Amino acid sequence: MSPQIPIISVDGVTKRFAFPHSLARRLSGKPPLAVHALNDVNLQVYRGETLGIVGESGCGKSTLARCMVRLLDPDGGAVRFEGRDIAELKSSERRGFNRRVQMIFQDPYSSLNPRMTVSQIIGEALSVHKMRPKEQIAARITELLELVRLPGDAAARYPHEFSGGQRQRIGIARALAVEPDVIVADELVSALDVSVQAQVVNLLLQLQEQLRLTVVFVAHDLRLVRHISHRVAVMYLGQVMEISPSEALFTSPRHPYSKALLDAAPELDPAYRNRNVATRGELPSPVDLPPGCPFAGRCPYVFDRCRTERPLLTPRGNAQFAACHLTSFGAEDQPVTHERPL
Ligand SMILES: Nc1ncnc2c1ncn2[C@@H]1O[C@H](COP(=O)(O)OP(=O)(O)OP(=O)(O)O)[C@@H](O)[C@H]1O
Ligand SMILES: [Mg+2]
Repeated sequence: MSPQIPIISVDGVTKRFAFPHSLARRLSGKPPLAVHALNDVNLQVYRGETLGIVGESGCGKSTLARCMVRLLDPDGGAVRFEGRDIAELKSSERRGFNRRVQMIFQDPYSSLNPRMTVSQIIGEALSVHKMRPKEQIAARITELLELVRLPGDAAARYPHEFSGGQRQRIGIARALAVEPDVIVADELVSALDVSVQAQVVNLLLQLQEQLRLTVVFVAHDLRLVRHISHRVAVMYLGQVMEISPSEALFTSPRHPYSKALLDAAPELDPAYRNRNVATRGELPSPVDLPPGCPFAGRCPYVFDRCRTERPLLTPRGNAQFAACHLTSFGAEDQPVTHERPL
């Protein structure tokens, strides 16, 4: 892994979704309401790494993933692939990007065409991007099925003949067919039984190493994210609150929200068990974001500045970054310092 080169760079990305403009608001002259799904998101994905993205439901993980693969265009800021704004890619460059950055969706049931055999599904991906001459396609399909450890007779069967975990393997094989550099997996295993989740995640982990893939792994389950990710970005209300190497995040989170998330899943790390700092207070509405830190209303360490000034992601040492006005916060036995960030 060469962690210095970002393959994808998310630079100040904002994304809003408008509500239908109600008659009452229109008559009162108020502007249309919008959900602030992404609010100035900045992060880099380095070549060869697995970046986990975690956060509560509705914090903008899928919106960010969709912006990264250009299923959505940001309202502000840019997503760059190898330094180029992906919104500006045209024709063959756009097709190249579409091949090199593949998304795998949560729901293997709806993302695979039920009327096509596995061979046709993977074959289609191979021919759309002209990956192999016709006569080599069958052999390549066999190779791909072996890669994701599906039985040899899978090619002639239809998606409904497989279990959920196997269907997700078909989705992975289809994504790998076009030899991508980046896989964006949004809740890859959330719909699967816990026992099957680990198998699929371990497969992705092995493929990542074997094929030197860059992986963006979006998930609710912190345990899985820790297992698979080199670094993890913690999102809250459309913003990145912390981005840290995986082990550092789980052993010494640098944002009170990260800590609250870990505390909400105490089985993750015995060191955090029984610490009563779980998230409390109201989750602000993504329609009406507070001016300062979005976590201020729920943060046990809140002070005046947090309510007025939005903290930016700043380095915390140990390759960690946090968007917090506190440079350290605490373990209950340590005094909380209110220093300016670095
Ligand atoms: N197409 C859309 N139209 C309107 N609002 C949307 C749309 N997509 C997402 N949103 C809103 O944007 C916010 C972020 O949604 P998003 O799906 O990105 O969150 P998420 O972190 O992926 O949540 P989950 O963990 O439940 O998948 C939410 O408030 C959601 O309701
Ligand atoms: Mg989602």
